[in-house]
Amino acid sequence: MIWASGWKLASAVSNAGGLGMIGAGSMYPDTLREHIQKCKAATSKPFAVNVPLLYPDLDKHIQTIIEEGVKIVFTSAGNPKTWTQHFKQHDITVVHVVSSSKFALKAQEAGCDAVVAEGFEAGGHNGREETTTLVLLPAVAEAVTIPVIAAGGIATGRQMLATMVLGAEGVQVGTRFVASEEASSHLSFKEAVINSKEGDTQLVMKKLTPVRLLKNGFYQEVQEAEARGADEIELKRILGRARAKLGMYEGNMDEGELEIGQVSALVKDILPAGQIVKNIWQEFSDALVSPLQSKA
Ligand SMILES: Cc1cc2nc3c(=O)[nH]c(=O)nc-3n(C[C@H](O)[C@H](O)[C@H](O)COP(=O)(O)O)c2cc1C
Repeated sequence: MIWASGWKLASAVSNAGGLGMIGAGSMYPDTLREHIQKCKAATSKPFAVNVPLLYPDLDKHIQTIIEEGVKIVFTSAGNPKTWTQHFKQHDITVVHVVSSSKFALKAQEAGCDAVVAEGFEAGGHNGREETTTLVLLPAVAEAVTIPVIAAGGIATGRQMLATMVLGAEGVQVGTRFVASEEASSHLSFKEAVINSKEGDTQLVMKKLTPVRLLKNGFYQEVQEAEARGADEIELKRILGRARAKLGMYEGNMDEGELEIGQVSALVKDILPAGQIVKNIWQEFSDALVSPLQSKA
C-alpha cells in the first residue's frame, strides 16, 4: 500500500505468519532498495513487493527487485503480459491483482502463479465495473485454475472464512493494516480511519484511474470536478500535486488524498500488525468451529 507499507509493516506481518508486502508504488528505486534490505534484516520469513505496472520508473524497480533477490512479486494496475515472464525467468513467483474474471484469465494466460480478486469495497485503486468481492470471488474462482486470493472488505477472521467458502485460498488485507502501529501512514490518517463510519468512502476518478477515498476536501474537489464533466487533463491536474503523499503520509486531512476501503467502518483501533494477524487467525479458527453464529 502506497505511503503505508514500508519494511516495518511488511516485516511485522511476515514475522507474525502472514506474507508482508512492501508497496513500491510510492517509492523511488533507491528507497525501494533500502526498504527491501531493511525488511531482509528484520525477518527471515518470506515477504513480497507490490509493483503497480503503471509506475513511471518501472524498469528500475524491477531491476532492484531482481538484484535484491526478492522471491515474490504482486503486480497490479497494468497488463500482466508485459513483465510476468521476465520475473519467472528469475524464479520469482508472480501474483497479479484483478477486478474481473476476464482480467483473471489474462493473468493466468500470462503465466501468473495466482491472482488477487479485488472487489469494489477495497481501498485504493479499483475496477471500473464495481463488482463486489462477494460476486467477483466465485466468478474468478470458477474462471481460473490457479489459486485465488480474495481482497476487498476483509478485516476479520470471520470475513476471511467467508472468502474461503467462496473459493479463496488466501486473503489480501489492506485497510485493516493502515490502522497498525507499523504502517508509515500519518497518525491523523490512522485516526480518521478508525473513526470512519459506513458510507464515509466512495469510488471516484472513474475517468482516470478509479480510486476509493475517504470523504474530505480533496474528495469534494474531485466530486465537483467530475459533476461538471471535467476531462482527464483536469483530473490529472487536481491529482498532480502529490495529493496522496500530502494526505496519507503528511497528514493533511482536508487537502490530501486518503485512499481507504469500506471496511474502515469496522476498524476501531490501531494495533501492532502482529496482533492484527493473530486476531484474524483466532477469529478465523473460532469461526471454523461455529461458522453459523451471527456474532464474531
Ligand atoms: C492506503 C492504501 C494504499 C494502497 N496502495 C496499493 C498499491 O500501491 N498497490 C496495490 O496493488 N494495491 C494497493 N492498495 C490495495 C491493497 O493492496 C488491497 O488490495 C486492498 O486494500 C484490499 O481491500 P481492503 O482495503 O478492503 O482491505 C492500497 C490500499 C490502501 C488502503
